[in-house]
Amino acid sequence: MKICDNLNTSVCFNASSIGITYCTLTNATNGLGWPKLSDEVFDGNLIDWDKFFDARAKEIESIKNGTQRKECQNCQLISDEDFVDDKKIRYVLLSPWQVCNSNCIYCLGHVPPLEKDSPDYDDEYKRLVEPYDMINIIRDMISHNVLAENTEFDFAGGEPTLYPHFDELLNFLIDNGMRNIIIHTNNIQYSKAIEKGIAQNAVSLMISIDAGTKQCHEKVKRVKSYDDVWANFKLYSSVKPDNYTMKLCTKYVIVPEINDSWEEIYEFINQSVKNGATHSAINVYNQLLNNMAYEDKMLNHLYELSERFIITAKSKGLKAMTFPNIEYVYKKLGKKVVW
Ligand SMILES: C[S@@+](CC[C@H](N)C(=O)[O-])C[C@H]1O[C@@H](n2cnc3c(N)ncnc32)[C@H](O)[C@@H]1O
Ligand code: SF4
Ligand code: SF4
Repeated sequence: MKICDNLNTSVCFNASSIGITYCTLTNATNGLGWPKLSDEVFDGNLIDWDKFFDARAKEIESIKNGTQRKECQNCQLISDEDFVDDKKIRYVLLSPWQVCNSNCIYCLGHVPPLEKDSPDYDDEYKRLVEPYDMINIIRDMISHNVLAENTEFDFAGGEPTLYPHFDELLNFLIDNGMRNIIIHTNNIQYSKAIEKGIAQNAVSLMISIDAGTKQCHEKVKRVKSYDDVWANFKLYSSVKPDNYTMKLCTKYVIVPEINDSWEEIYEFINQSVKNGATHSAINVYNQLLNNMAYEDKMLNHLYELSERFIITAKSKGLKAMTFPNIEYVYKKLGKKVVW
């Protein structure tokens, strides 16, 4: 039976449509993304769970019989599998804020923070900072028993630690027994709630660092934050318990001509080891692949950097990870990532 597991499992607190969707994926074959849930399902305050699962079942049925909405047509995630709709949610994306204290050269989805008394802090801006009450909705998910066991909560953004209720929301999840929480952060701002989540083996960090040296970090991030980022990382890794099974992962997005030297990546690995990372990940920025300007020379360069990264990170005791963009480079060259 044709099915999309993403549709079958997800609810996404979204920024682009300021509302909740089933899916935040952009369909690689047509560039389309989902609109927000209909007002009938989500009125801006709470989700009507009966209507939510009915609407989801209809969408799944339409994939099964080939009449799916245009956003899903030919989507790379549709697969042929058996499935039972158990009316549970296994993945929650928390990404409705776009505010960020960094200004990464490769990132298209962020706006600078504003003081509350700034004249530009208008309704439109507020919607980018805190569009709706997520704690209330998640409390409602718990009381309606719609979360599967070990549901993944994935914080993205913007910068999650700048969400005005970030610590409150994270503490709420931890205190309600959630043990599969992933936070994507630039690590500029320290959070006591993250510290608690790591100490309780409930939180993984994916930290976008993208450089080994201070000079290069400033070139990519375009804010002075290198020392704070690593100091915060060291504090977090110092509370990691012996039985820690989550990830303290440093992450490097390669941007050609900015941070694509082996010396830079090598220093990034060294800093990751020195400051207590358990994992380290490599990727290439989206725009490079979207431009479709695939020159073999560039593809080979990216492939070689990635191979050296994997071998060196592993030899220094880190678990190496790759992300889809760099895996796509391997695919274009007819190669496979070998672990
Ligand atoms: C949008 S950020 C939000 C969370 C947080 N601010 C951070 O930097 O981790 C989530 C992840 O997307 C990555 N990212 C952002 N723009 C990207 C791009 N154009 N290409 C590849 N990765 C990108 C970042 O490096 C980061 O790991
Ligand atoms: S088929 Fe693709 S676009 Fe549609 S819900 Fe699944 S992942 Fe999202
Ligand atoms: S820190 Fe994250 S959200 Fe902010 S600019 Fe960089 S990638 Fe974008």
